[in-house]
Amino acid sequence: MSVLNGKKVLLGVTAGIAAYKSAMLVRALIKAGATVQVVMTEKAKDFVTSLTLSTLSRNPVHSSFTIEGDDNAVWTNHVDLGLWADLMVIAPGTANTLSKMANGTCDNLLLATYLSAKCPVYFAPAMDLDMYIHPSSQTTFDKLTSFGNIMIPATSGELASGLVGQGRMAEPDDIVTFIEDHLKEGLPLVGKRVLITAGPTYEAIDPVRFIGNHSSGKMGIELAICASQLGAEVELVLGPSALQISDSTVNVHRVTSGQEMYDKAHSFFEGVDIAIAAAAVADYKPAEVATEKIKKNDDSLTINLVKTKDILASMGAIKKNQFLVGFALETENEQENALKKLKKKNLDAIVLNSLKDKGAGFKTKTNKITFIEKDGTILPYDLKTKKEVASDIFERIMTNIL
Ligand code: CTP
Repeated sequence: MSVLNGKKVLLGVTAGIAAYKSAMLVRALIKAGATVQVVMTEKAKDFVTSLTLSTLSRNPVHSSFTIEGDDNAVWTNHVDLGLWADLMVIAPGTANTLSKMANGTCDNLLLATYLSAKCPVYFAPAMDLDMYIHPSSQTTFDKLTSFGNIMIPATSGELASGLVGQGRMAEPDDIVTFIEDHLKEGLPLVGKRVLITAGPTYEAIDPVRFIGNHSSGKMGIELAICASQLGAEVELVLGPSALQISDSTVNVHRVTSGQEMYDKAHSFFEGVDIAIAAAAVADYKPAEVATEKIKKNDDSLTINLVKTKDILASMGAIKKNQFLVGFALETENEQENALKKLKKKNLDAIVLNSLKDKGAGFKTKTNKITFIEKDGTILPYDLKTKKEVASDIFERIMTNIL
């Protein structure tokens, strides 16, 4: 899955003949899973219509601060646009616009948006070969890259002028590949595979009833999103949680029972580098599942329960090089019990939640953890959001494995 999946991309289109390719670029970005908004200069409309780009991007195209002649026109807020974007791509970048960007000129919406953007900005120059190699253009490129912008070099080939040489805007698919490669570069978990179990499990009593628990799956989902943002390929085995996952780079495998979670987790375990068991798996399940709905014929009902398979312990028993992390929810002798669990299940680390801590545990947005490593390192953390906790957990995992 593309690293662009779920990313918000602002495409800046300027007035070069290569603007006709921006339609294909919008499509390629959308295909990669990005949400795209287009900001274009007025002159760029001579080369590609805003209707084409708004239709393909499924969003209105922005080109001026207000709509001329419309008394009820609303101000297009370049600051909001700039802040909305996860990344901005100027393609095609004409000599004129790139030079203005290099010098802080701000005489249209695209330039104002560029100056407001805090995200990485890519620019794909498109110009005739003599313009491209002109010292002023080269100075512009250098200046723009010195600001931290990322240049997608033009390619060589036949130019609109009929001349042949460097200056052709990179092809839309190559621009997307360039950005994907660049986004992946430097991410610490690129090339690593991560398995996470999360959420509750439901153990059927009969066709309509089950034994379950209050786990929302939030902690595991945040761990999965965090791992994916760090560049890992993530397999999230998720019990019946009502939550939706906003980050579609995570491979989600929905399961219901502990046995299904066990089977799915084991189908991935051998091939992963890191496994985290954040699921609240039912410890017991009915020995028999009634095939028909149980009728309330008697005053009392006894359900015979048998132990479920311990997924985490089973992974610990076969683990080779995987870094294996479990969770422990304790109410007394917390650190001692968590350490015992770590040893018993052959883990590399355990995340301890104490029910004595306010804001920790099920159905909260926050968590308070102590991270315990197999060498005896004990790291207590403050109460934080589950997103922040996920990031703390991965920081420790990376310290151990990288
Ligand atoms: N776990 C699991 N499969 C199970 C039960 C638990 O993978 N059938 C995992 C959980 O995901 C968690 C860890 O084991 O990472 C701790 O689970 P917990 O229920 O707290 O511990 P238990 O070992 O079951 O011990 P106890 O309930 O007695 O505290």
